[in-house]
Amino acid sequence: MPLVAPSILAADFSRLGEEVRKVTDAGADYIHVDVMDGFFVPNITIGPSMVKSLRAYSDMPFIAHLMITHPERHVKAFSESGSDIIEVHVEAEHELRETLRLIRDHGKKAGLAVNPPTSVQSIYPFLRDIDLLLIMSVNPGFGGQSFIADVLPKIGLAKDEMEKQGCKVPVEVDGGINAETGQLAALAGADILAAGTYVFKAPDMRKAIEALRACGGSKD
Ligand code: DX5
Ligand code: ZN
Repeated sequence: MPLVAPSILAADFSRLGEEVRKVTDAGADYIHVDVMDGFFVPNITIGPSMVKSLRAYSDMPFIAHLMITHPERHVKAFSESGSDIIEVHVEAEHELRETLRLIRDHGKKAGLAVNPPTSVQSIYPFLRDIDLLLIMSVNPGFGGQSFIADVLPKIGLAKDEMEKQGCKVPVEVDGGINAETGQLAALAGADILAAGTYVFKAPDMRKAIEALRACGGSKD
């Protein structure tokens, strides 16, 4: 059964604290925070000071998904903001291995994200340096996009390679996740499902989270 990481990108930004509390009470396993800089992706969202303010509203681990150029410049700030896992992109402009080491040196878990057009092989040399792999199932920048099923084989390929290298880390899938696409991702091996729209726009958040957690099991 996959764990569920609601992405607050789809929450009501005018009352983010309450939204984080609500989704925590509804059974979330993580809080997924989408950080965008207007360079690496066209959109701009929130920064470390907002993460710090939100920390008081949930005990769940925070995942800071940094869709930003030069993420190494912000590792310290996101660590101090109370993020537990810091994810950086293989496509971003930075010395990747050094950034991953910096995240771990700050006592945080290092996540590595890979965009749909990028080959999964590009992350193989870094498997020993990470604590989580994020496979993007949309092109990052906006919530509410359609799931790109072509990325699914990447999960199995990455897991085979982890087995070979003897370093297993959980795989999170992010973008366009709902009960149907979550099922596809879970059957392909996803350990964590990140979902914004499906959770935050649901009439009943608890039911939406439960539906995601049931993904990968049999329907009856
Ligand atoms: C995309 C973000 C995702 C995504 C989640 O740039 O990283 O976290 O928007 O939102 P939904 O589930 O609406 O695609
Ligand atoms: Zn994300």
